[in-house]
Amino acid sequence: MSDLSHSAKAAELSKAFVALSLQYAGTCADPYPVYAEKRHNTPVFEGDLPREMGVPSIAAGVGPDRKMFTLLKYADVHAALVDSETFTTEPYREVFGPVQGEIILMMGGTEHRFWRTVLTNIFQKKTLDDWTARLFGPTIERRITELAAKKKSELLGDFMLPFPLEVVYQMLGLPVDPEQLNQFSEWALLMALGGMADFKNPEQTRELMGNAMMAADNLFKHLKNIVQQRRAENSQAADLISLLVRSEVDGRRLQDDEIVYFVRSLLPAAGETTTRSFSNVLATIMERPGLYEQIRADRSLVPNVINEALRFEGIIAVMPRLTTRDVEIRGVKIPAGSGVNLIVNSANRDEDAFENPNEFNINRKFKMPLTFGFGAHMCMGMMLSKIEMGAALNSMLDHMPNMRLNPNEEYLGIKGIQFRTPPSLPVIWD
Ligand code: HEM
Repeated sequence: MSDLSHSAKAAELSKAFVALSLQYAGTCADPYPVYAEKRHNTPVFEGDLPREMGVPSIAAGVGPDRKMFTLLKYADVHAALVDSETFTTEPYREVFGPVQGEIILMMGGTEHRFWRTVLTNIFQKKTLDDWTARLFGPTIERRITELAAKKKSELLGDFMLPFPLEVVYQMLGLPVDPEQLNQFSEWALLMALGGMADFKNPEQTRELMGNAMMAADNLFKHLKNIVQQRRAENSQAADLISLLVRSEVDGRRLQDDEIVYFVRSLLPAAGETTTRSFSNVLATIMERPGLYEQIRADRSLVPNVINEALRFEGIIAVMPRLTTRDVEIRGVKIPAGSGVNLIVNSANRDEDAFENPNEFNINRKFKMPLTFGFGAHMCMGMMLSKIEMGAALNSMLDHMPNMRLNPNEEYLGIKGIQFRTPPSLPVIWD
C-alpha cells in the first residue's frame, strides 16, 4: 500500500467524520451555560433538550412522538443510570438495532448479566497488559514516530481516527494487512454514520442507513468467516474472537452469530468513542498554552489530565433511556413509556457534585464522572481506552515536543450537543 492511497483514505474518512460531527453541533455554540441555567431552574423538565438545541435525540426513538423528559443533575442522572430496570436502554435498539442487530447495550435482565460476565472474564488486567505490550503499545509508538518527523498535522485524520480502529482490528487478531485494515475501517465509519442519521429527515436517513446496512452486512460476512475458522481450528490464541469462542459461563457457550454481533458493535463502541475522547483530551490540553510542556516534564500528571479532560468534555453528552413505569423526580411526574435524556455533560459540571466544576483542574481529587456511564451498562472498555490514551499521550510527549495549535489553520474548538469533539485538530511541534 502506497503512502498516497493510505493518506487519501484517511482524508476521506476524516471528511465523513467531520460532516457527521457538524450535524451534531446543533444550533447552540456552547451548551454549558444553558445546562447551568436549567440545572438551577428546571433540573428535571418535560421536554427534549437536544432537539431544542437542534440535534436529533436518540431517546425520542424512531416511531410516533412520545413524551420526552430531560434530567440535568448528577444525582438524578446517576440514579437513572443505576436503575436500569426503570430507565432502559431501549432507545438504542430502536435507533441502532436495524444496523447493529441485538447487542449488549440494548439488553436487560439475565441475558445482559450473562454477557457482562463473559466480558468481565475476558477484559482482565492481565489480558489488557498482554495486548498492550504485544500489539497496541508498538502500534501507537510506530504511528507517532512516523508522524513526528512531519512537524505538523491535522491530528483527527492523521491519528485520532485510524489508531483506535487499528487497536480493535489487532484485538480481534485480524491479519496484518493494511488493505484489509483500511477496508475494515471504512465499513466501521459507514456504520457509525448510519447510527447518526437524523430520523426526522427521511432522505438523509435513507442514504446513511442504506450505506450503513451494506457495511454492516459486509462486516457480518467477513467476521463470521473468521469466527467459524477460529472455532474449527479450536484456536487457543489470546485474541478477542478466540477468547469469545472458548468462553463458557454457567455451561452456556456463545453462538457464532452472537459473537459476530458483539465484535461488530465494538467498531463504534471502541473505535469512534476513543477517537473522540482522545481528541477531546488533546484539544483540552492545546487550549491551555503551557499545559503540554508541564505534563511533558511530569509524566505522573498523565492519568489526572485524561480523567479531568473526560469529566470536563465527555464525548457522549446525552445518554438516552425509556421508562418502564411511572416515576416522579423532584416533583416532576414521568409516565411509563417516556423518552428520557440523561444530560451527562451537565451532570459532570454539577456544582453539587464537583467543586468549581467549570474549572479544568488537573489536581482535582478524583470522583467518578459519568462519562463512561454508570451501573449495569457502564462501559466495559474504560480501562482499555484509558491505557490506549495514556500510551498515545506519552508517545506524543516523547516525540512531539512543544505541541501547540497551528496558528495558520482554523481551530473551531470542541463542538456538539449529542456527541462532542473538535471537528479538526491542527497542531505543530518542534
Ligand atoms: C474513551 C472511550 C470510551 C467511552 C467514552 C465509552 C463510553 C461508553 C458509555 C457511555 C457506555 C454506556 C452507554 C449508556 O449507558 O448509555 C459504554 C458502553 C459500552 N462500552 Fe464503552 N466507551 C469507550 C471505549 C470503549 C472500548 C475501548 C470498549 C471495548 C473494548 C468499549 C466497550 C463498551 C461496551 C461493550 C459497552 C456496553 C456495556 C453494556 O451495555 O453493558 N467501550 N461505553
